[in-house]
Amino acid sequence: MIRIVSQIVSLVLLMVILTEGNPQQVIDASGQCHCPCECSAQHRPLFQVSARGSAATGRNASTSTSSRRLKIGAFNIKTFGRSKMSKPGVPQRIKQIIERYDVILVQEILDRSGESVRQLHRMLSRTYEFVISDRLGRGRYKEQYAFFYRTDRVSLLNFHQSTDREDAFEREPFSVLVAPKQINNVKLALIGFHAKPTDAVKEIGRLADVIGEVRRQFGADVEPIVLGDLNADCDYADRRRRLRAGDALTTNTSYVWLIGDDVDTTTRDSTSCAYDRIIVGSGLTGRVVRGSASVFDFCDNMRLSKQQCSDVSDHYPVEVTLVF
Ligand SMILES: *[C@@H]1O[C@H](CO)[C@@H](O)[C@H](O)[C@H]1NC(C)=O
Ligand SMILES: *[C@@H]1O[C@H](CO)[C@@H](O)[C@H](O)[C@H]1NC(C)=O
Repeated sequence: MIRIVSQIVSLVLLMVILTEGNPQQVIDASGQCHCPCECSAQHRPLFQVSARGSAATGRNASTSTSSRRLKIGAFNIKTFGRSKMSKPGVPQRIKQIIERYDVILVQEILDRSGESVRQLHRMLSRTYEFVISDRLGRGRYKEQYAFFYRTDRVSLLNFHQSTDREDAFEREPFSVLVAPKQINNVKLALIGFHAKPTDAVKEIGRLADVIGEVRRQFGADVEPIVLGDLNADCDYADRRRRLRAGDALTTNTSYVWLIGDDVDTTTRDSTSCAYDRIIVGSGLTGRVVRGSASVFDFCDNMRLSKQQCSDVSDHYPVEVTLVF
C-alpha cells in the first residue's frame, strides 16, 4: 500500500515537474485531477499527501520560533524575461531576493516561452516550487504572475485565476491558498494583483469582490492577503483618489494596509510612491511581527550602483512577517 502511494506521489511529482509552468494541466492517466487547481472535493490534490508525509517526519518545529514565522513578499520585477536573465549579475541578485521569502509573488513576467521563469527556478534552492498564472492582458502585451514558495515551510493547497466576466481588470488577480506547515488551522489566501496604472482606482475598487470570490473558492475561514503593485499612489490611485471613489478596501476597517501611504516602493531617486502594497484582513493584524511590514531595499543591502539597482527593477519588494 505504502509503495503504491509513494509510486503515485512520484508519478504526480514527475508530471508536475514536466508540466511546470502550467500546473493547471496536471491530470493523470485515469483522468483524475492531481493539481492544486479547481479540483472537485473528491479529487484532493496529491501535493497534500506528500506534504503531510514530510511534515510528519520533519524536525520538531514547535520549539523553534522561526518555524512559527512566515515571511511573505511581493516583487514587481520590471519586464522580467530573457533580456533581464542574460544581464550579468542580475539573475543572481533576483535569486537572492526570492530566497529571502517563504512565499513571494513575482509580477511582470513577460517571456512567452516560460524559459526565464524555469531558468530562475533552476537557480533557486531545491526547496522552492512555483505556480504560475495564465498570460493576462487585453492586448498583445501580456504578463504573468507567479508565486514561488518554500515547500518545507508551506503547503500549496489550491490556486485560483479570477475570470472577470465584466472585464474590469487588465490583469485579473491570481490567488493561492497556502497553509504554513506545522501550524494547525491556518490558511492564507494570497491574492496577487498588478493594477493597470491608469485604471488603478477602478481596479482596486473591485478587489473587495475578488476577496469574496476567493473566499467562495477557498472557504469562508481563509484569511485574505492582497499583495502586489497596485499603483496605489502618486498620479494613479493615491489615498485621496481612492477615498473620493469610496473605495471599499480603503474605507472599510476590516482591511488593513500594512504598507503605508508614505512608503517609497520605487528604486528611482526621481519617484517616491507607495505603489506596492500588502493589505490584510483585520483578523491577521495580530499576527504581524511589529515593524516587519516594509520594503526590502536590495540596492542598499547588496551595495548596488544605481545602474545595477535599476537593472534588477524599478520596484523594491514589499514584505511582511507573520507569526503564528
Ligand atoms: C517537540 O516539542 C514539544 C514542545 O516543546 C515537546 O513537548 C516534544 O517532546 C517535542 N518532541 C520531540 C520529538 O522532540
Ligand atoms: C467590510 O468588510 C467586511 C468583510 O468583507 C464585510 O463583512 C462588511 O460588510 C464590510 N462593511 C461595509 C460597511 O461594507
